[in-house]
Amino acid sequence: MTKVSLGELVSRVDEIPVFSETVNRILTLLEDPKADAKGVEHEIMKDQGFTAKVLRLANSAYFGGSRKIHTVSQATVLLGFQAIKSMVLASSVGKVLVRELPGYALEKEELWRQSQICAITSRVIAKKVKYSKPDQAYTAGLLHDIGKVILDYYLSEQYQVIQEKMASGKWPFVAIEEEVLGFHHGQVGAKIAEKWRLPEDLVEAIELHHTPSLAVLNPQMVSIIHIADGLVMMLGLHLGADGLAYEFSEDAMKLLKIDEQMLSEIMSEVVDIISDENAYISEI
Ligand SMILES: [Fe+2]
Repeated sequence: MTKVSLGELVSRVDEIPVFSETVNRILTLLEDPKADAKGVEHEIMKDQGFTAKVLRLANSAYFGGSRKIHTVSQATVLLGFQAIKSMVLASSVGKVLVRELPGYALEKEELWRQSQICAITSRVIAKKVKYSKPDQAYTAGLLHDIGKVILDYYLSEQYQVIQEKMASGKWPFVAIEEEVLGFHHGQVGAKIAEKWRLPEDLVEAIELHHTPSLAVLNPQMVSIIHIADGLVMMLGLHLGADGLAYEFSEDAMKLLKIDEQMLSEIMSEVVDIISDENAYISEI
């Protein structure tokens, strides 16, 4: 069986678009400790799409309260720079995540929807376990499966072999990817994240979300993404081939000190949030 060569993979990763000038400018500004809400508003308002999304998010049940938010600077104060950063990043990767992935049995827009729900779930878990950067967890949750966009191409080619292995019921899906292609989607996703110059611990979370006990840089965040991914599956929202054979890590549960009781609280909180259409970054 021919495995995918690293060179071939790299050239596929190269086809993934980089962020636009506007996005880079906004992301840089949000990292600037001297930036204020007015300055952020000024940049965001140059883009109609971002303006609408920031306002929608600020008025969602999760962030908003009874108070209606009308301006981007009000929204920036309410949401915080990290949440705005996640939103800008999210709407930029949406275009990549929106495509159909036949190799994973995912219809058009399914991965995008699933990724947004995983991001929301990651943030809920992060808050519950008092992880210091819940919006970073949100971004990691959103990007965790991005490698599928590239591996899908090869999986479709090997569809028959994969179906047979799946039918045997003995293999978790990532193991099938590794066996058939030589890489799993976490590794490929990490390559994309590196290309986008995302922080190292985000790259790690993407790479190891199916094997959180291997994490070195930020085991807490990797475990959050892993559990969020599993919960999305338990909620019946994780469709496609990967969701059918999910292995939940005991180590991740122990590390975050999450018990059954907490899991069900997290689940019901997530269900509440996702029933509000405003909680999503963009319509699909
Ligand atoms: Fe995955």
